[in-house]
Formats: sequence, structure tokens, C-alpha cells
Amino acid sequence: MADRTDKSAHLLGLLLGTEEDWPRAFEELVRKLGPVRDADGREHRLATERITIEPFDLRAKPRYDLVIDRLAYWYYVPREWLKKVALMDGVYLLNSPFTFQSMEKHAAYCAMIRLGLKVPDTWLVPYKNPVDNARYAYTAAKYNRPFDLDEVADQVGYPLFMKPFDGGAWRGVSRIKDPQTLHEAYDASGEMLMHLQASVEGYDVFARSLTIGPESMVMKFRPELPMHDRYAVEHGFLSEQAGDEVLSISRLINAFFRWEFNSCESLVIGDQVHPIDYANACPDISITSLHYYFPWAIGTLLKWSVFCAVTGRKPRLDLDTANYFAVADSDRDYAEKLTEYRRLADDYFETERYQDFCATALSGVDDLVRDWVASKDFDDLLVDTVRTTYPAAEHDRFVAHFRGLIGLWLKDNA
Ligand SMILES: Nc1ncnc2c1ncn2[C@@H]1O[C@H](COP(=O)(O)OP(=O)(O)OP(=O)(O)O)[C@@H](O)[C@H]1O
Ligand SMILES: [Mg+2]
Repeated sequence: MADRTDKSAHLLGLLLGTEEDWPRAFEELVRKLGPVRDADGREHRLATERITIEPFDLRAKPRYDLVIDRLAYWYYVPREWLKKVALMDGVYLLNSPFTFQSMEKHAAYCAMIRLGLKVPDTWLVPYKNPVDNARYAYTAAKYNRPFDLDEVADQVGYPLFMKPFDGGAWRGVSRIKDPQTLHEAYDASGEMLMHLQASVEGYDVFARSLTIGPESMVMKFRPELPMHDRYAVEHGFLSEQAGDEVLSISRLINAFFRWEFNSCESLVIGDQVHPIDYANACPDISITSLHYYFPWAIGTLLKWSVFCAVTGRKPRLDLDTANYFAVADSDRDYAEKLTEYRRLADDYFETERYQDFCATALSGVDDLVRDWVASKDFDDLLVDTVRTTYPAAEHDRFVAHFRGLIGLWLKDNA
């Protein structure tokens, strides 16, 4: 697979950090999948390759049709390479840095509030410490207005959460119950730019949904437990209405920002869904976090990548904000708006065409994934992953734990 002029051969690139588990799974499944026939009966071959980091000519032609990225959020050499291949070569990216470099948590809150979602009251407060810039002292002296942090907190109401505007991995997140903890947390925030956000108290369910292309898995999440126990294996934990709303919100957010691989967190009270965190455009899908849900995630990542590569789906960097805002500004009620947003999202993701493609060109994938998850190869992968993730004394316990959950998935999907 030397170049992209051969439209029947597709190279899927992987940009990886420290993970080995899902890439090995993905590579193995692409190998096992073999050639895929498109709607016209033409045969397509697919292969994967781990992308290496090296100097690159801005005019070089990449060999990849599609890249799944788990690295560029912290490593800027591949990020700048991704921007080049997005702008110059039309490579399909999960996800494009253009869609999340400027669209972190704060931008996502703004957009979803604009669309009428039930985002808790949120304020942004200026930095605690001076910004490291020679112009800061003059500018701050002239234009920074003194403000009363307690007054802002009173507007938001206690308890509240203080967290970075571009958060991730619980860095700098604290739950604030009174003015004293408020000032302690603000003093500790230093050079981080912080939000104060009203706490959603007494929620019934923390729903975390992983979305890949047009498909979502809504999982019951328990943030207070260790990582391997956070996703509960439970079905039917939301009412039909709340479940549907979580799905619509997840799909809307992804379509709005062009995120095709993302997770979304909502706190649900009765039928009220409050999204609190949904800019995770580099989601963790390791076996040791997802366990029972891992086969779904890897199978769906396979289907969506193959669909995009084989049908030549065009990447879209431009946002259709006006279409979404028109719905937000219409006379429709909340439920009708969600329905309309979901229609726009389904248009963007070509949901129907994708489903047809899965039913015809990829009809064997579910069996392929199941047979592989039941195989010794998969068990080896699981054991290797446990060995590299946990201290030696815990290997037996965790191997048994994850084998049990995978066994349950196999039984439920027999
Ligand atoms: N408004 C809120 N109401 C109630 N709980 C909240 C709220 N905001 C945050 N939390 C709690 O704090 C945790 C971390 O917050 P948040 O998800 O916004 O930060 P993060 O750094 O993006 O974390 P991660 O990357 O692990 O998702 C949430 O999982 C939730 O348990
Ligand atoms: Mg979160």
C-alpha cells in the first residue's frame, strides 16, 4: 500500500501513546476482516500501520486514508502533522485537531448552553496568578477589574465545582462547600484558568456514553470507585426518555463539533439530564477500563473506520453552527429541539448509509469480534494488559476479574 491513488487499498494509521491493548485488538481484527466489498461490488483491502514521528516535508503526500489519534493532545509534532494532512491531503481523522484544539470543555459548555441543554450554571474567573508574559503587568493594572470571588460563588451557589476551563483527568477539580474551601482552591489554582460550576446534587445516575461515529454506548459510571470498577455492568438503569435524551445529546455534541470518537458525561435526576463533561475527544478505551464494553468499542471502531475508508467519506472541518442555532432559536419545545438536533446529527454521520453498510459489507463483523474475544489470542492480550497495568501481586486477581466480565459479555452476546 504505497500511495492513495489506489482506491481499493486503504491504510489506517494509528497515532499512539503508551497503550498496547486496543491497538493490538484493532490490528488483529482488521487482519481477520479481510477484503470488504462496497455497494458496487468492488473489493477493498485494508491494513493498519502505527505512525512514527519524524521530520516531514509540508508538501509530502501521506499514505494513510484515515488516522485514529490518541497522541496529539499532548505531543505537538504529530498534532502539527495531523493539521497538515487534514488541510492539505483530506486524510480522515478521528479526531481532527482543528475540532478540539479550540473547542475544549469551555467552548463545549458555551455551545451546548446556546443550544438549550441543561448545563449547570457556570462562570469563568480570571487567573489567580499573573500570566507569564511581559505585557501582563501593564495590561492587568490598566484593565483587570478587581472582583469578589465570594460574590461569584454566591451567584453560582454552594456546593459548587471548581475545575479548569480545559479540564481532563480530574486535574485541578475540587468540590467546594463553603467560602473557606473556595479560597483555598482558588489560591491553589495558580496559572490554571478556572470555572465555577453549580454542583448537580443528589443525582440518580451518572451516565457516561462512549460515541464512535453514529453509535453510542451509554454506561452507568461510578466515579468514586477505582478505574477498573467505574463502569458498572448494568442495563436498563435509565428510563426510556432519559436514555433517549442521553443518546441524542451525545450524538448532537459529536456532530456539532465533528468529534467522531468521544465520551460524554451526564448526571441524571429523574428524567432531567444535565451534561457536565463532554469534550473528551481522546477517550480511554483500554480493556482495564471498559472490560465488558471493550468488545463493543473495538468492533464499533472497526466498523466506523472501515465505513469511512471504503466509502471515501469526506472529512468535514467546517461547522454547521447556523443550522443548529436556527433550531435553538425556533419555537420548538425542548423535546422537539432534541429530535431536530438528532436529525441534523444523523445527517452528518450518514447514519442510515452506515447502518446499510454494516448490514451488507460488514455483516460478519459481530461474529468475527465474538469469535476473537472467545479465542486464546484475546485471552493472551488480556493477560499481557493486566501484567503491564498492575503490580505483580495483583495479577491473578485482576486476570480473574476481567476474565469474568468478558465471559459475561460472551454469554450475553451468544
Ligand atoms: N457540576 C457538577 N456536578 C456534580 N458533579 C460534578 C460536576 N462537575 C464535576 N463533577 C464531578 O467531578 C468529576 C470530574 O469533573 P469533570 O469530569 O468535569 O473533570 P475532568 O477533568 O474532565 O475529568 P475526566 O477527564 O476524568 O472526565 C466528575 O466525574 C463528577 O464526578
Ligand atoms: Mg469527566
